[in-house]
Amino acid sequence: MKVDVILGLQWGDEGKGKIVDVFTPRYNIIARFQGGPNAGHTIEFQGKKFVLHTVPSGIFHPGTQNIIGNGVIIDPFILFQELDTLTRAGMSPENNLLISRRAHLILPTHRLLDAALEHRKGDAKIGSTLKGIGPAYTDKYGRNGIRIGNILLPDFQQRYRQLKEDHLDMVKNLGFDMAAQRFDGMGFTSYEEQWFEALGRMKTLQITDGEWFINKSMDAGKSVLAEGAQGTMLDIDFGAYPYVTSSNTITAGVCSGLGIAPQRIGTVFGIFKAYCTRVGSGPFPTELHDADGDKMRKEGNEFGSTTGRPRRCGWIDMPALRYAIMLNGVNRLIMMKSDVLNQFPVIKICTSYQSGDAILDGYPFESGGDSIRPLYREMQGWNRSLAHCRSMTDIPAELKNYIQYIEKSAGLPVDILSIGPDRLQTLQRETL
Ligand code: IMP
Repeated sequence: MKVDVILGLQWGDEGKGKIVDVFTPRYNIIARFQGGPNAGHTIEFQGKKFVLHTVPSGIFHPGTQNIIGNGVIIDPFILFQELDTLTRAGMSPENNLLISRRAHLILPTHRLLDAALEHRKGDAKIGSTLKGIGPAYTDKYGRNGIRIGNILLPDFQQRYRQLKEDHLDMVKNLGFDMAAQRFDGMGFTSYEEQWFEALGRMKTLQITDGEWFINKSMDAGKSVLAEGAQGTMLDIDFGAYPYVTSSNTITAGVCSGLGIAPQRIGTVFGIFKAYCTRVGSGPFPTELHDADGDKMRKEGNEFGSTTGRPRRCGWIDMPALRYAIMLNGVNRLIMMKSDVLNQFPVIKICTSYQSGDAILDGYPFESGGDSIRPLYREMQGWNRSLAHCRSMTDIPAELKNYIQYIEKSAGLPVDILSIGPDRLQTLQRETL
């Protein structure tokens, strides 16, 4: 068996959670391979809405195993907030959740350091979710991090104290006032206490050697779906650095983040929205600063599921999408939130960029400020509700034209179309 992959082709928030949830019944195992609680995967069904940050989106299906892979970084406090919410909703998430021993921990001081570093950057700040992502990955790659497996070892307290001390020195050197900083509404000391309580509870979870678990499961014929977080345009190597997250969000990250050989990668499902959004700072070539942008935000309820921040909105960006398809080796496309464009008489598609006298078809090294100007093609909108659509054949001709243009430009068919938040509002071109 191979590992299928599902990931975002834009700047995150493409609606991956919903699609993973729709796909879950077809897979035995759902695996998160990178990122941490900066992610926010929203899933709605039976009138209830859940936002997952660390737990894989297959958790709602009791027959599916979910694994948090070695490439993920985990904040125990946030993990248990999530697990407790699921338990209160009548589920038993601990039964079908495994955690790789090699995943790294996010310490309270990683969150503190994230805030201190962002504060220091002033106007040049990344717009981080302040969940400690950058500092925790910095410690991982600097070989100072603490892994989940370490919490079961006798020297854990000593390692924790040492790393905390180092972090506090750094925070002091940055001249940051930690007394004013709040963590989920708490001061540092109370937060640290709660964090330790959650850490104790983590010992009761199923901690395992994730790479062996996944490879042996595949050998035994089990199917695996790797669930990406953030989006391709936030990848540490290929996004508009430094306005990126600190992990490889692309297909390549699945191999290192789960312990899987490249030849075991199967189908790659690439998810994109019918328009674009971005939360945080950094280049966004097709961003709208007008009434159309406001309308997208309102219709699409474009507010961050992790931070609540309003998302920046803009037209679909084909050079960025083609770049993402290439980097990930996408073979299936999924278009989300088409219904958000229901009320637009005219819809624009960015087909290429202009840079000086040159026309660029791909995403360039430099994309900020005035370095590139998006070139648009206008198309007639469908200007009506999609609520009655039950299959791809029901969709209005203008939406069909829009999809056909995207398919031609992307070089791939759109196999799935999402027209609303519910599981049932998902139209498939064919049985995949
Ligand atoms: P960090 O990953 O929290 O350090 O944030 C780095 C950048 O990635 C910021 O612009 C965040 O807003 C953005 N970001 C991080 N996680 C997500 C996500 O799951 N969806 C969308 N944007 C994200």
